[in-house]
Amino acid sequence: MTTSPAPSIRFDVEKIRKEFPILNQKVNGHDLVYFDNAATSQKPLQVINTLVDYYTGYNANIHRGIHTLAEKATRAYEATREAAKDFINAQHLEEIIFITRGVTEAINLVAHSYGRTFIGKGDEIIVSELEHHSNIVPWQMVCEMKDAELKVIPVLDNGEIDLEAFKKLLTSKTKLVVVNHASNALGTINPVKEMARLAHEAGALILVDGAQAAAHLPVDVQNLDCDFYCISAHKMYGPTGAGILYGKRSLLEKMPPFFGGGEMIKEVTFKKTTYNDLPYKFEAGTPNIADVIALKPAIEFIQSLGKATIAAHEHELLKYATSELSALKGIRLIGTAAQKVSIVSFVVEGIHHFDIGQMLDTRGIAVRTGHHCAQPLMERFGIEGTVRASFAVYNTKPEIDKLVEGLDRVISFMK
Ligand code: ALA
Repeated sequence: MTTSPAPSIRFDVEKIRKEFPILNQKVNGHDLVYFDNAATSQKPLQVINTLVDYYTGYNANIHRGIHTLAEKATRAYEATREAAKDFINAQHLEEIIFITRGVTEAINLVAHSYGRTFIGKGDEIIVSELEHHSNIVPWQMVCEMKDAELKVIPVLDNGEIDLEAFKKLLTSKTKLVVVNHASNALGTINPVKEMARLAHEAGALILVDGAQAAAHLPVDVQNLDCDFYCISAHKMYGPTGAGILYGKRSLLEKMPPFFGGGEMIKEVTFKKTTYNDLPYKFEAGTPNIADVIALKPAIEFIQSLGKATIAAHEHELLKYATSELSALKGIRLIGTAAQKVSIVSFVVEGIHHFDIGQMLDTRGIAVRTGHHCAQPLMERFGIEGTVRASFAVYNTKPEIDKLVEGLDRVISFMK
């Protein structure tokens, strides 16, 4: 993780944990240790209460009704757009498109709208070997459909992108570079600002998958100068089923809609349909109103702590976990990049990652095991999968001690 300034306020993790009631429970007779935050984070009370308030107080469809409830719901939904614009420092409000689901849908939207319209025969799309399947498969689909070619940036032994290889892959045929801001499988933070500069120099666009960055790293889309940036609400303390696609206005304007239906139109006749303005052109049908509304308190939760404070705490956890786990016999860390978000991925010699995950679960410790939807990356390291512990702002060092103690027992038991 990048060097963070010291937290400006005293960081009170116990106070934060009180905002997450789910953390206060026993699992299999032990206090829950939730280390599967890269899969989905837990939700603070203010997010949960916002959902309850919406459904008990002003549930209504938006942008359509003139009645009081509809207007209140519309205002709340659009207030999240303002908050999201501020959160990622977008230049224009209409650059924020709300999507249902999350980054997967955002990437598919760009692939099927931009990709199918502006990528042609012989063009090239560059992906990295570090990508989640959701940032590989949609581009394979575009390449197959358009007779374009997918090029892959290799990953170095420490889990960093090979920037020199990337430079060599960029040619006048490159139309788009797609890369994650931080790897879900290894935690590597990618130099996306530098990659955006290089892509633009070559005349290409860049799409950044921000799923693992939004809750952990500062995100300033103008400073990064990325063309598209994708975020899942549920990985940043918000609800499932909602997310943000940021796109530069000039690009979104020339892209055709992905879904057709209500609200994304200006006028429909059987002869011709004209489309609505941004951002509504991309928000067909009834959106996920409740979850978009509840994304605002998630943003506010992060902003109230401050990204620098969050990053400093999580970096401490990462450093501690890395050093404690490295000391265990038989453990091999996968992904030792200099810049990482708070994810540790590892294998234990002679013990299947799945068995480790199950045995940790009997001790109340939740980790993810497997290929993490990044099979090409696992293949790169010659493994089937890893055990992954991913930390969030409410995690603590004593919880890491429990993980280390649990692993120590698993290793002694299985060997
Ligand atoms: N992409 C999520 C993960 O890494 C589901 O676990």
